[in-house]
Amino acid sequence: MLIHSIKELREKVKTWKAEGLSVGLVPTMGALHAGHKSLIDRSVKRCDRTVVSVFVNPIQFCPGEDLDKYPRTLEADEKLCEGSGVDIVFAPSPKEMYGEGHILSNDFLTYVIPPYFYVDKLCGKSRVGHFDGVCTVVNKLFNIVQPDYAFFGEKDRQQLIIIKKMVNDLNIPIEIVPCPIVREDSGLALSSRNKYLSDEDRVNALALSKILFNIKACYKKGVNDCKALFETAYEYLNESHSLEYLEFRDADNLEEKTTADDNTVVFIALKIGNVRLIDNIMLGEEC
Ligand code: PAF
Repeated sequence: MLIHSIKELREKVKTWKAEGLSVGLVPTMGALHAGHKSLIDRSVKRCDRTVVSVFVNPIQFCPGEDLDKYPRTLEADEKLCEGSGVDIVFAPSPKEMYGEGHILSNDFLTYVIPPYFYVDKLCGKSRVGHFDGVCTVVNKLFNIVQPDYAFFGEKDRQQLIIIKKMVNDLNIPIEIVPCPIVREDSGLALSSRNKYLSDEDRVNALALSKILFNIKACYKKGVNDCKALFETAYEYLNESHSLEYLEFRDADNLEEKTTADDNTVVFIALKIGNVRLIDNIMLGEEC
């Protein structure tokens, strides 16, 4: 069932709650792919009812980013959800979520601002204000849907860590369920932005996963000096790549690591032409 209105959504969820049913929320910006499907499948398996939100959130895009050209494929998204046992696809308009006008101005909207330490690094460094927009919309979705569980992909691991922090700090009574990255056979992590890649870009994009897999293999062989691990990346980079960051950070609080351990996540962001791709790997997890 496709719902655009907050009021209608709330009424529906209220009837489920009255019946004592558990509710799962999968927040998305649409253009659903197998990565989203794995989140949806987890929710459908774990919860009595599942809501998938499809909302391209304008306040998490920085000036000059791809807000206008971000893929919007609601019909296909609805089909995927229908075939996956989703109960409601919630697709509000920007006006429904933020009201008339001024939605891009901090002067006219109450924001949820995550701690500076969590946002002044990795993606937050080049995408200033991005995580304010994410936390604000996720809070709104939490308040609208009031789910018992919310499912987030580890592909956006900085986002996941920040949302867990927000839920903990603000005592939000929702269990955050992290879901593993889904990759193509080639190793490329699934992302809605992969749609922007040409055939040649796709080949060059394999550098991200190759760098991460190789670092993990070196770590498993006993190398734990992060500088030495960093240097192994050069082998995979060519003139088509612009490396934004390759960093070693703690999986819980994003502190920088100089010596890697099992709780270290290696984060990478790489630009190929105009397409910016991110990926990450947890060193302690089994391959
Ligand atoms: O990860 C995303 O797709 C978005 O950042 C989210 C969590 C749906 C908020 O708009």
